[in-house]
Amino acid sequence: MERLPGFRDFYPEPLPHSDVWSADVRNYLFDKWRNTARAFGFREYDGPPLEPLDLYTLKSGEEIVGQLYNFIDKGNRAVALRPEMTPTLARLVGAHERHYKKPVKWFSIPQLFRYERQQKGRLREHFQFNADLLGETDPAADAELIALLISLLQACGLTPSDFVIRLSSRNAWHDYFARSSADPAREYEFYQVIDKLERATPDESEAKLAALGLSLDAVRHFIEAGQPTPELSTIIQDLSARGLAEFVKIDYNVIRGLAYYTGPVFEAFDRQGQFRAIAGGGRYDHLVGLITGGKVQLPAAGFGLGDVVLTEIITQRRLLPKLEARLDAFCLIEDESIRRDSLRLIHELRQAGCAVDFPLAPLKSDKQFKRALDSHAAYTLRLERSTHGEISVRIKNLRTREENVASPAEVLPLLRLP
Ligand code: HAM
Repeated sequence: MERLPGFRDFYPEPLPHSDVWSADVRNYLFDKWRNTARAFGFREYDGPPLEPLDLYTLKSGEEIVGQLYNFIDKGNRAVALRPEMTPTLARLVGAHERHYKKPVKWFSIPQLFRYERQQKGRLREHFQFNADLLGETDPAADAELIALLISLLQACGLTPSDFVIRLSSRNAWHDYFARSSADPAREYEFYQVIDKLERATPDESEAKLAALGLSLDAVRHFIEAGQPTPELSTIIQDLSARGLAEFVKIDYNVIRGLAYYTGPVFEAFDRQGQFRAIAGGGRYDHLVGLITGGKVQLPAAGFGLGDVVLTEIITQRRLLPKLEARLDAFCLIEDESIRRDSLRLIHELRQAGCAVDFPLAPLKSDKQFKRALDSHAAYTLRLERSTHGEISVRIKNLRTREENVASPAEVLPLLRLP
């Protein structure tokens, strides 16, 4: 039985095959993400992986709706696997908005599902770190989010020479569109053309813009001029006060595909442009209102950072530490008459927070020792019974080869754990 295309199997290291993903790398990233988000004062939330189809059809925009994994469930409900987290977040916050002080700073690490054409950096399932800040219109909120995104990437070892945040604003494009004589009802269609500009051929873009009464030359000129709007200048000043100016540049090629963005938008890319977008987000001041049917109006901004492209980049740059099995101690049981006493000590050490393993069934001593080495145990423990029936423990430091003998109660303080 094969797995479905675009889905992944995650194995513990060392990996058996180049076609599978590392569960250890995934945990490594999640730990970095959680620690960095908490350092910025964000709290974790989660929601269901299956949602009513309606949550996406009106609010996310054509591109994502075309990629939905949707079906009718046994209760005759139209449902979809979540392709993104933002509508779920808007639903959650909208439902209990009064319960939380503003601004709300929340993060989540959902697994998301999109029926996309499988290609490098894009699969049909991915994990996406999301951080969102609700209840604040000041561009300081957008800057706080971008600073968090930069710190997340730095925590994974990336530097200003590895990545850049391309900062833009839908307001700049909204004003551009409003100044033209194009039909105001076709504004989102125009955004879609800008979003595809770097991927489509000039002829395709030219034709689509002409249909809206606009020219590719004029659009290109506007992008090249790259004049920051007042909100973008404020964001850049804020980031520069934090010493992060070198990570950002104004780039009006970015406009974002999703329908709900209303203000500053941004995407993170590797500097060489070898990979797909690492992360993307922006301001979406009307989504909570839309999802709550107008009951709750809450300005918001946020971003999503996927695990696929980030793993590709840090693997290529060799930034991952060695992620292997690591035990504090391996308890050798060479004399079966001492198994019960060994089990007691093992359980006590585990309850004290030590990672301890042992042979479940009788095993030759050399094989037991090999297992201790393979699992990178810091110590081996071997219980011994004296002629008077007293139990002592021989503790061996596998790095220094130093040995100690102690009573079972003395073992824990002797395991000098890193
Ligand atoms: P997005 O740009 O669709 O934004 O996705 C954000 C990131 O998720 C992308 O830059 C990419 O790293 C990753 N990603 C997206 N699709 C795939 C895929 N098929 N395979 C692998 N990685 C993928 C959003 O989803 C917004 N909801 C983010 C947001 C949060 N905006 C405001 N708050």
